[in-house]
Amino acid sequence: MINARTTNVHQTEELAGAIASLARPRDIVVLSGEMGAGKTAFMRGFAAGIGVSPDETVSSPTFTLVHTYDTGKIVVHHADLYRLGRLSDVEDLGLRELADLGDVVVVEWGDVASDVLGDHLVVSLEADDDDEDTRQVTVSVAGHTWDSRWEQLKRALAKWGD
Ligand SMILES: Nc1ncnc2c1ncn2[C@@H]1O[C@H](COP(=O)(O)OP(=O)(O)OP(=O)(O)O)[C@@H](O)[C@H]1O
Ligand SMILES: [Mg+2]
Repeated sequence: MINARTTNVHQTEELAGAIASLARPRDIVVLSGEMGAGKTAFMRGFAAGIGVSPDETVSSPTFTLVHTYDTGKIVVHHADLYRLGRLSDVEDLGLRELADLGDVVVVEWGDVASDVLGDHLVVSLEADDDDEDTRQVTVSVAGHTWDSRWEQLKRALAKWGD
């Protein structure tokens, strides 16, 4: 587990960019945290970090469930499962299959679906009682796909170390 703390939204975006620079085809990143925790902000930084054009607007895919960005080198899908009631609906979205094709998938409210997503990184964002712009960021992993990158990830996130 890696613990970090950001004190404004730009830091969360920057931290997300640092994670994105270590992301590989077939990765799934699950974003967990309450409403307003910063999941979409994280996705904005992640998209920028992986090479999505700054001209693209990264917003919550609330009604379409999945937004897809193609950098030319890699395809990134941004899903928001908030409105999905059943696990079978999540399976129908085929997020694991998209990742297995070689894409990267980032899932807001994905923790409810962690069982059907297979190996993934979990980034959890938590508000701070004392400061409205501070977020406790915890990074953990399900499976082994980050084993060989874990030390690198720790180093990349050390500047936000908590
Ligand atoms: N350190 C921080 N990290 C991230 N966001 C922050 C931080 N400090 C303040 N904010 C603000 O918190 C809000 C986070 O909103 P965002 O839409 O990213 O949350 P969310 O987790 O995606 O919510 P939802 O569950 O509704 O989709 C933004 O208005 C952002 O500016
Ligand atoms: Mg959101």
